[in-house]
Amino acid sequence: MRMLPTYAPSIPVPNVQEMVRKEPAKIPDRYIRNDEDKPPINDMPHLSSEIPVINLSLLSTGETEELNKLDFACKEWGFFQVVNHGIAKEVLQNMKDATAEFFELPLEEKNKYEMPPDDIQGYGHAYVVSEEQKLDWSDALILLVHPSHYRKLKLWPSTPKGYREIINAYTKGVQKVGEQLLRAFSTIMGMDKDGLLALHKNLLQALRVNYYPACCRPDQVLGISPHSDTSSITILMQESDINGLQIRHNGGWVQVKPVSDALVVNVGDVIEILSNGKYKSIEHKAVTNQNNSRISYASFLIPQDDVEIEPLAHLVGSQRLMYKQVVYGEYVRSSMQRKMEGKAHTEIAKIET
Ligand code: OGA
Ligand code: NI
Repeated sequence: MRMLPTYAPSIPVPNVQEMVRKEPAKIPDRYIRNDEDKPPINDMPHLSSEIPVINLSLLSTGETEELNKLDFACKEWGFFQVVNHGIAKEVLQNMKDATAEFFELPLEEKNKYEMPPDDIQGYGHAYVVSEEQKLDWSDALILLVHPSHYRKLKLWPSTPKGYREIINAYTKGVQKVGEQLLRAFSTIMGMDKDGLLALHKNLLQALRVNYYPACCRPDQVLGISPHSDTSSITILMQESDINGLQIRHNGGWVQVKPVSDALVVNVGDVIEILSNGKYKSIEHKAVTNQNNSRISYASFLIPQDDVEIEPLAHLVGSQRLMYKQVVYGEYVRSSMQRKMEGKAHTEIAKIET
């Protein structure tokens, strides 16, 4: 039998959607943030419109101007939105409709896909490692979707009808977008077009669907704690009319307002390490809303477990070497053994000054 990759387990915690359904006015202590983590009143909404918007079809034909834009976005923001990505509207909409239906199912039905105690795939919560840590105001469905022989299909919901095929179609589209983006990244990082894809050996995709229930006190809780992604890049679809995602910028937090049919892309830790810090894996978090639940779809594109990641010599040049070599599988598993806490998990790859 083929060995499937396993990941670090997470401690079981209550289902937030169910908790809110039963007692919408109650917020248990475990969810109330310490003052320094409470969402600030001013999240610099005026800067949202400056987050770069990149046209993937121009990027893929190698337009210099678009490649320069990508370089700027990765240096200055670590985040950008992608339009003209080529995934059919219908594919995006089907994913949103079927997922909304899934989360509306009774808990017993969703728990058929409950995360097993020794894994982080399935319906549940990740990165819970102690009874004391503050918890996120969200539930998630996490699946390793690519390559397809890594799939644990017993954790893939078969209700609503056709959901598995819909997830397959959506993540196939995302995979293509990811490959095109990595070709463009190879170019701006001074490699052959297929350099980064070759370095990954196999481009894996893990999907994390986040469900953030409405919260009566959005100023007290966080939907997802501040963190940077351990991926190479992350491709995120958000709902078209509900804010939630915020990113670190100039010491504050900036909302990533949804752009219609666009996908949000961010640089992950792998690209930060490979580029010796030129491109930044920026900290981000999600806040909740008082009247609306929100669903987001994060696809993490990652290298094969045995890939060794270290700064590319030609990008280090005469600069100080910032990171040491890490084996990707060890890096990602060590990050899962701690709670999400900004960029603390990246320390194991850093060279002390
Ligand atoms: C994530 C994430 C942000 C969001 O799942 O890693 O950062 O808007 N999600 O849900
Ligand atoms: Ni993230």
